[in-house]
Amino acid sequence: MANILVTGGAGFIGSNFVHYLIGNTDHHVTVLDALTYAGNLASLSDLPEDRLTFVKGNITDAPLVDELFSKADAVVHYAAESHNDNSLDNPRPFLDTNIVGTFTLLEAARKHDTRLHHISTDEVYGDLELDDPERFTESTPYNPSSPYSSTKAGSDLLVRAWVRSFGVRATLSNCSNNYGPYQHVEKFIPRQITNVIRGIQPKLYGAGENVRDWIHADDHSSAVLTILDKGVIGETYLIGADGEKNNKDVIELILQLMGQPKDAYEHVTDRAGHDLRYAIDFTKLRTELGWTPRYGDFEAGLAATIQWYRDNEAWWAPAKDGVEAFYAARGQ
Ligand code: NAD
Ligand code: DAU
Repeated sequence: MANILVTGGAGFIGSNFVHYLIGNTDHHVTVLDALTYAGNLASLSDLPEDRLTFVKGNITDAPLVDELFSKADAVVHYAAESHNDNSLDNPRPFLDTNIVGTFTLLEAARKHDTRLHHISTDEVYGDLELDDPERFTESTPYNPSSPYSSTKAGSDLLVRAWVRSFGVRATLSNCSNNYGPYQHVEKFIPRQITNVIRGIQPKLYGAGENVRDWIHADDHSSAVLTILDKGVIGETYLIGADGEKNNKDVIELILQLMGQPKDAYEHVTDRAGHDLRYAIDFTKLRTELGWTPRYGDFEAGLAATIQWYRDNEAWWAPAKDGVEAFYAARGQ
């Protein structure tokens, strides 16, 4: 039994990971989360109290981070400002949390010689043409497009520098787009599902030909646990599940699964600098660490996610009106 510190454990992917850890290991979990607009304690409310300690705090708070690292056997770092559209509106918090926050954790890992796993994104690699036969691999050059993805790229480079310069025992992973329960309604899939529930037309940016490589959050969690257990210090692992789909097909599938005409959506202003396509080659994770995804059927996973949002309106309703007002002001 170990004490695993999870930063950002009240957010979407972090809370899914906490559920996964408690369900699949006997580790004790400590969550450090600032409970920004994206954090929600209700995402952890059904977990056993004797397995979970929650600490409300900021990853840029060095004394707090130092104290928590002194008691942790390993740290998994999810906390971030995560939404591209917000980063176009107000980039500053992205620099503070994603860059300074990661730096703060690295200094604590260095001092306490703590095992650290850094969670990152495929967006650090920029985007691909629709017909490019190549996919992202661990050796694809960094070429981020947005304030969000550039701060994530910066955080990755800090981790690599602290490994090389100071011997910090860190691994990194870059994952593709996640879907599943507990995702904030600002993001594409939950926004459209909750729009349909509310009788609002789903909103597709531009023509909707942009491709994302979807993976269920549970598969992301099992991959991260595999890397934490078996990953080689200093190495980067790409996480994906062969889930490429364009946004138009996803919106039409959501409408079909929710019993609506498949053209009952509207095209809205496109995102500035909108990345065209992400695609992950996860050969390294599969061949070197023996990991494979379990959720092969996107339609079944999406149907279960839709049902989760139908069953948990109390979880998402408080955020919905504010999110739609933010988008409406941007013509989205
Ligand atoms: P999210 O926005 O849902 O959650 C972020 C969490 O971090 C929230 O609970 C928030 O309160 C917390 N947080 C933010 N700033 C903090 C700070 N300064 N101190 C402490 N806590 C803070 O994000 P998510 O979608 O769950 O993403 C989690 C991580 O996974 C991020 O690092 C993101 O870059 C990465 N990632 C996300 C995806 C995806 O599809 N969502 C894919 C690949 C990688
Ligand atoms: O690839 C991993 C990344 O996936 C993570 O690093 C980010 O944290 C996560 O937010 C996600 O980034 P995206 O920008 O791809 O996700 P988002 O849900 O914002 O949008 C997905 C696609 O859907 C994108 O092409 C924009 C489009 N979109 C989005 C919204 C909110 C729409 O067409 N309509 C919408 O209303």
